[in-house]
Amino acid sequence: MGVQWQRNCNLKSRHTFGFEALARRFAVLKTVDDLAFFFREGRAPELLLGGGSNLLFADEVYEEVVVNALQGKTVLEESEEEVLLSVASGENWHNLVLWTLERAWYGLENLALIPGTVGAAPIQNIGAYGVELESVLEEVVALEWRSGERRVFSREACRLGYRDSYFKREGRGRYFIERVVLRLRKQPQPNLSYAALRQKLEEQGISQPSPREVCRAVMEIRRSKLPDPAILGNAGSFFKNPVLSGLEARSVLESFPQLPHYPLDFDESGRAVRIKVPAAWLIEQCGWKGVRRGNVGVHEHQALVLVHYGGGRGREVLDLAEEIRQSVYRKFSIQLEYEVQPVFARVEG
Ligand code: EPU
Repeated sequence: MGVQWQRNCNLKSRHTFGFEALARRFAVLKTVDDLAFFFREGRAPELLLGGGSNLLFADEVYEEVVVNALQGKTVLEESEEEVLLSVASGENWHNLVLWTLERAWYGLENLALIPGTVGAAPIQNIGAYGVELESVLEEVVALEWRSGERRVFSREACRLGYRDSYFKREGRGRYFIERVVLRLRKQPQPNLSYAALRQKLEEQGISQPSPREVCRAVMEIRRSKLPDPAILGNAGSFFKNPVLSGLEARSVLESFPQLPHYPLDFDESGRAVRIKVPAAWLIEQCGWKGVRRGNVGVHEHQALVLVHYGGGRGREVLDLAEEIRQSVYRKFSIQLEYEVQPVFARVEG
């Protein structure tokens, strides 16, 4: 059949920031065969969209946009202890989390309510409440745009890091992620390493939570802090949490001893090598929490989330983000990096 193009399609409902944007040519991908056109041309579409929950349209008109709606879940292997599940990249992530819990397959419960598609999950190694995709990812099946060849990436080959992977670095723009294979457990093994999650469950009088209870608590925390994009445009955390060297961290902590900090690893003498600090705290200390600039602003309950009140443009968020970055740098000498991907229209010719 090949890809079915529509003309002049409004992208407003296709991304969670809710800015007005237009695709001159637009198509919804239902099967991998729809991509034959691109493989023949040996190139990626100008923009491939998943759930549109981690991007910022910096421009208003894009030439060519393809939405990934590939569906399908297949059990590849099953034993008493585990199940190996292959999931098509266009499936909705949160629906997958609920679907696996219904079957009593565990491992995704802390990752409930993360917006977006399954195919986007390995690109930035999604993570929340003490768990990252890395802990359940078996492999990623991808097609190379240049050749149409299928390639299987083991977890190691995906080179996952904090909100980072091969697909964001050397592999950027080179592959279409077709399927993600997850290894899930049949025995519950709740991960309560995140203090806020433990606290929530304690408040509810639950000391040995089931994965479903963990999932429910995560959903409650997220709903209380993070704005619902259906009501207030946003793309979750706008910046990454900075990871400092031990030396950098000790230097900032001398001036700002109240800075919350979380060592990620230690050397042989027990000194922290890499230390994560919350960007939300740095931003809040610079006075940004709840600040509104025209049609955009900083969320009142979570300083890491930039929001769109309606009627604004992506550039306004970029300007605000730049101002925030500069003020954080001036006060703390720490460079914030974007977590959200700004998308610029391809300049023709
Ligand atoms: N904090 C503030 N001010 C705020 C909010 C938070 O000072 O307005 C400080 C507090 O010290 C708090 C700490 O930041 O203890 C951590 O806050 P929170 O638990 O809300 O998490 P986060 O570090 O701000 C990260 C992820 C979120 C994820 C949560 C829970 C990143 C960039 N963000 O946020 O992911 O849901 O942890 O695991 O790593 C996303 O990626 O879009 C996202 C929402």
